[in-house]
Amino acid sequence: MAFSVLHLLALYLIVQPFCVHAAQTANISLGLSLTASDNSLSWQSPSGEFAFGFRRIGDQDLFLLAIWYDKIPEKTLVWYANGDNPTPKGSKVELTKDGNFRLTGPRKEEIWPQPVISGVAYAAMLDSGNFVLADQNSALLWQSFKDPRDTILPTQVLEIGEKLSSRQTASNYSKGKFQLQFKPDGTLELYPIALPTEFEYDAYYKSNTSDAADKLNSGYQLVFNESGHINIVLRNGNIVTLTNKTVSPSRDYYYRATLDFDGLFTLYAYPKKGSGTSWSSLWSIPENICFAFDSTGEEGGGPCGYNSYCRLDANTRPICDCVPGFSALDPQYKLRGCKQDRMHSCELGDSKPQDVYVMHELPNTFWPSSSNFEVLQQLNEDDCRRSCLDDCNCVVATIRAGRCWKKKLPLSNGRQDWNEYGKALIKIPKSDAFENPASRDSNTEKKDQKTVILVGALLLGSSVFINFLLVAAIALLVFYTYRKTLRVITSTSSIMEANLRAFTYKELEEATDGFREELGRGAFGTVYKGVISSPSSTNYVAIKKLDKVAVVAQQGEKEFKTEVSAIAKTHHRNLVRLLGLCDEGANRLLVYEFMSNGTLASFLFGISRPDWNKRIQIALGIARGLMYLHDECSTQIIHCDIKPQNILLDDSFTARISDFGFRIGKASAKGYVAPEWFRNTPVTAKVDVYSYGVMLFEIICCRRCLEMERENEEEKILTDWVYDCYNQRRLNKMIGDDEEARNDMKRLERLVMVAIWCIQEDPSLRPTMKKVTQMLEGVIDISVPPSPSRSF
Ligand SMILES: *[C@@H]1O[C@H](CO)[C@@H](O)[C@H](O)[C@H]1NC(C)=O
Ligand SMILES: *[C@@H]1O[C@H](CO)[C@@H](O)[C@H](O)[C@H]1NC(C)=O
Ligand SMILES: *[C@@H]1O[C@H](CO)[C@@H](O)[C@H](O)[C@H]1NC(C)=O
Ligand SMILES: *[C@@H]1O[C@H](CO)[C@@H](O)[C@H](O)[C@H]1NC(C)=O
Ligand SMILES: *[C@@H]1O[C@H](CO)[C@@H](O)[C@H](O)[C@H]1NC(C)=O
Repeated sequence: MAFSVLHLLALYLIVQPFCVHAAQTANISLGLSLTASDNSLSWQSPSGEFAFGFRRIGDQDLFLLAIWYDKIPEKTLVWYANGDNPTPKGSKVELTKDGNFRLTGPRKEEIWPQPVISGVAYAAMLDSGNFVLADQNSALLWQSFKDPRDTILPTQVLEIGEKLSSRQTASNYSKGKFQLQFKPDGTLELYPIALPTEFEYDAYYKSNTSDAADKLNSGYQLVFNESGHINIVLRNGNIVTLTNKTVSPSRDYYYRATLDFDGLFTLYAYPKKGSGTSWSSLWSIPENICFAFDSTGEEGGGPCGYNSYCRLDANTRPICDCVPGFSALDPQYKLRGCKQDRMHSCELGDSKPQDVYVMHELPNTFWPSSSNFEVLQQLNEDDCRRSCLDDCNCVVATIRAGRCWKKKLPLSNGRQDWNEYGKALIKIPKSDAFENPASRDSNTEKKDQKTVILVGALLLGSSVFINFLLVAAIALLVFYTYRKTLRVITSTSSIMEANLRAFTYKELEEATDGFREELGRGAFGTVYKGVISSPSSTNYVAIKKLDKVAVVAQQGEKEFKTEVSAIAKTHHRNLVRLLGLCDEGANRLLVYEFMSNGTLASFLFGISRPDWNKRIQIALGIARGLMYLHDECSTQIIHCDIKPQNILLDDSFTARISDFGFRIGKASAKGYVAPEWFRNTPVTAKVDVYSYGVMLFEIICCRRCLEMERENEEEKILTDWVYDCYNQRRLNKMIGDDEEARNDMKRLERLVMVAIWCIQEDPSLRPTMKKVTQMLEGVIDISVPPSPSRSF
């Protein structure tokens, strides 16, 4: 067996150069060239899938010599020659008459490669995405597959010693801080480097294929095979598959594996057919980059750099935030770390520390031991706080289980994780503290409360004096936010314009560039993407334009206003915020926060199955949002149209309910409708509970509630099928090959039981959303649910 694999490999290597002739390559012959300009030509592979040539980057007048996917709108680059040194218009790549291949700038200076490759007879862009230079005998002199940047493609192989290097940001192709190398000992390693040098810090991912124990059992090649799997081929011919997810056939998808700028090595897929799609991530390492670094303090500050902390979004992507009181060294390149806004001083003059500093709390956040200078035992939080405040060396204290760690700068390798207990207390000079707390963690409920109180104060505050105070406070806030780059503070602007901002139609027309980019279309309106700028920030928004018909057919002005004001009063982390509106005659538009991660529908029903734990967090978030609408806001709001298309995901994949509060044109979607809609009974909050139950089934199974094209009759209607599976004690059957769910049967069963309670035909048997939330959280027991339909 081992022999035959080696044999095949050898054959593959012999055959490979031959393939260069065999492919229907349109040869690029001597004397041809390309010049960088906006509509410059490119050299395409025979299939047209890949192209070689110049691509403009960003909105600057700079170009990269690159290879890209030519058939998709994104034109994703898979290789680039001059990432560190983009060239202006007029640069030229040529294969000279005398067989030299080179990229030159507008003044004919040689830019790449160094030295120039000579003796070239022809070049070719192959269908694999490999660009090759060959001599007279068709031997390869150079190929892009052997000189990779941050991406490898199917059929590409990394040999011992070869490496990938990340770029700095999504749009800056300069060398970034992460590398992937197939090390001489046969290990695949991911590690950061000490830019601008090549010094390698310790690895944050290592494959267990080193030759330390057994030479023959060590790694030999990293192979991205044709069917989209990434394998380490061992010296004895055995294969270790890294990508343990099932991937769809490569005839239907483009695949690429990229060492992303945030340090994750990720396998991406893109459907070849169908519009409105994008790259989706199928697999990545390491699993949790925030925790992948050890704590020696010698790893360049961790994934996020010094004085910051790392947290994961629901896609396991790291988000880097500066510690309060610090700001990014380079706002364009957040992974470089952060610097203190104002130095702390031990010279306080006559002031007491508590007059000069405040302690800002950061929950569930810590830095490993490296930045500690003192550990105090058996201290309560107040004493810990006081101890840090009084100690001029202390910048941060973390407290956990009765211990108080005092820390100095720089803070290295910070993380935030909601499974961590304890909190960090950050010492901030007082005037800074003013700006920080509210804007930082948009995730905490605390902020919501604060906003509510402020808004309330604004509404009440009609006296001139209070208004004056508020204006002063707002001016201060604006001043401080202005100094912070790119921090989006929607709450500030909405506070400023009282509860909701009133827009003119013209403003919104401009914000959407003439209603150009459509985000979605609902029963009674279309949603567009827009940009709203204020002096301190630029925010994306989603603007819903109600159809004229809907406006006419709708209830009168007064009712519309009542509904809007009820919505404006809602504040919950699981709801999409309404920021403003426009009401000019037949033009009615609503301005909402923009949610960057699309709908729950596209999340659940995409190419790859999202993580089990993320799905559960989302289910819980929706339950909490609904509980708030039903029980906790001043006017009860029944949504009436709960479905995955109406649940949006924000940039940290928190579920946010949208489209609530309006009754117009609401007809619950097929499959999610509670039976009482069709009876002559009043509609109560229990209709939402029913739809939630249906959606919970979808979240568990990652499939739609109605799939009429299914061959198996009994699987067509999800609710019926799941109940049957539950009733026959065959829960395994409904989750297919979902390993994560299989390993979590207890929780799976609880979720299914909750969902069955929710879809009871008799509304009075369905639990309230409050009870649903408690059941999901495991606070109360769940009794065995009856059959959904038998009960009536
Ligand atoms: C490309 O050029 C080489 C060398 O001149 C030649 O052997 C080969 O047949 C050419 N291939 C095609 C498809 O024209
Ligand atoms: C990329 O970042 C580097 C340094 O951070 C900067 O010098 C360079 O101008 C940036 N490149 C582009 C194209 O913005
Ligand atoms: C690497 O570890 C996995 C499980 O941890 C094991 O199955 C595999 O055999 C190991 N590979 C080698 C080459 O030791
Ligand atoms: C690619 O690798 C996977 C996993 O090792 C394997 O199942 C598949 O057969 C391989 N495909 C090809 C074309 O070699
Ligand atoms: C895939 O590999 C990761 C580690 O890289 C592991 O945690 C996970 O459980 C594996 N998944 C399956 C389905 O084997």
